[in-house]
Amino acid sequence: MLFTTLNKLSIWFSHHSAFSGYFEPVIQRVKPAWRQGLYRAQVLNVTKAIGDFVHITLQPQHQWKAHKAGQHIELTVELNGRLLTRIFTIASSPQQYVKDKTITLVIKTNELGRFTPQLADELIINSWVNISAAQGDFVFQQVNKPLETPTVMIAGGSGITPMMSMLSEHLSTANNPVYLRYIAPLNEHQFVENLALLAKEHPYFTFDLMTRSEHESQPLTLLAKSDVYCCGPQGLMFDIEALSKDTGANFYQEYFSLAPTFNDDSAAKIDITVTLNGKVFTASNQQNLLIQLESQNAPVIRGCGIGVCHQCHFTKKSGLVKNLLTGDVSDSGEQIIQLCISKPLSDLEMSI
Ligand code: FES
Repeated sequence: MLFTTLNKLSIWFSHHSAFSGYFEPVIQRVKPAWRQGLYRAQVLNVTKAIGDFVHITLQPQHQWKAHKAGQHIELTVELNGRLLTRIFTIASSPQQYVKDKTITLVIKTNELGRFTPQLADELIINSWVNISAAQGDFVFQQVNKPLETPTVMIAGGSGITPMMSMLSEHLSTANNPVYLRYIAPLNEHQFVENLALLAKEHPYFTFDLMTRSEHESQPLTLLAKSDVYCCGPQGLMFDIEALSKDTGANFYQEYFSLAPTFNDDSAAKIDITVTLNGKVFTASNQQNLLIQLESQNAPVIRGCGIGVCHQCHFTKKSGLVKNLLTGDVSDSGEQIIQLCISKPLSDLEMSI
């Protein structure tokens, strides 16, 4: 009762949602990175990997509850004096957490982002960050499936992270065939040695490492009633979902954040609202943002128009865009984008 009253007073008279938050700076002198409502986690290892990935091993404080394979967390890091939060799937298995109380994140860095490019250099070993409780429903739906019911996993790019966590756990108990198709640019596949080891230890597990063109030239065959798990770019997930529906397979997918409601590779035009410095403009998923905003006399700057000069930089505060050069889809948080090579996939809020 006392704490409930104190928390209410705290909301009324300060910006803190709970009374304990009022004492954050004091508590942080004893417990670095202590923040009301979040868990602390100590950085044990940070390693740069091929394909602009960074592998981060964290040791959460003991109150943190173990995750289910496939779940994600919110990672909060103080970078240049600002607290920034992004969502990442835990790549390590629940067994790893049981064994040594650590979790591993495998993060693809985005050179235009404000968060991921700084992680490898700014995260100091033994420093502290904040994490949320594990969350998400992208977990195995059933175990002990009949032998004739295969599990099929399709991972694109960093979509391999939930698959690795699920595989490590599932293969230790599964007896039905499990096939993984992992699509990434040539020589950018992560966990190659781990996958080879899993295939050696579990004869009913097979996998293929493919590039996008190899995937497109080798159509996937699904069986009715098989369980299909997919995580990757929207186009891939839409295609696999459609294939699953056609074949009567069970389809499960993972979106880390805001999910677009359409296949951005389709021809269908979708109306989108772009808020730029508080002013509202209309757009669609059919063209890059620079052309669409110029046509409405928005205060944008055109340079080369092909993604080279960086004069059309804007800060996206929220929403999803697709990079037309790389095909990468942004996360829904803050990042710098180039308007001339960015196509909107959801309503956007931006500022100069
Ligand atoms: S106008 Fe040159 S990068 Fe966009």
